[in-house]
Amino acid sequence: MKKLELPSSLKMHNETIDAEHQKLVDFINTIANTCNKGKFEDAARLLEDFLSFLKRHFQHEEDILRKEKFPQVGDHAEYHKKLLRDSARLLKLFDAASESDEANEKFIIALRYFLLDDALKADVMFKSFLSAPE
Ligand SMILES: [Fe+2]
Ligand SMILES: [Fe+2]
Repeated sequence: MKKLELPSSLKMHNETIDAEHQKLVDFINTIANTCNKGKFEDAARLLEDFLSFLKRHFQHEEDILRKEKFPQVGDHAEYHKKLLRDSARLLKLFDAASESDEANEKFIIALRYFLLDDALKADVMFKSFLSAPE
C-alpha cells in the first residue's frame, strides 16, 4: 500500500492547522507500517496517541475558527464530536486487525478513510474563509 500523502487541495493556508494535518497523516502512515510489521502492541499505543492528538487538533481548530469568527464554527465543532464518537468503530477494527492480513488491511483502509475523507475533507468548508483577504 502506498504512503498516504496530504493532498494539496486539503492545504488550508493556516500554518497551525496545516502542520497538525500533516502530523495526523504521518501518524496514519506510522500506524499502518507498525501493523504491517505485526507489532500490534506498539500500534495500539500509536493509535491512542493519534486519537488524543486528533482531539487536541479539533480543539485548536475550533479556537482558530472562533477567533476568526467563522460563522459555522458551532456546526463544525458538532461534526468533530461526531467523528470522535465514530472513532470507536476504528478501535473495533483495530482489535480484529491482528487476526488476518485481510482484517489488518480493512483496519488500515478504514483509518485512512476516517482521516482523509471524513475529518480533513470537512475542513474544506472553512478553507476559503481563512484564506480570504481581510
Ligand atoms: Fe482539521
Ligand atoms: Fe475540522
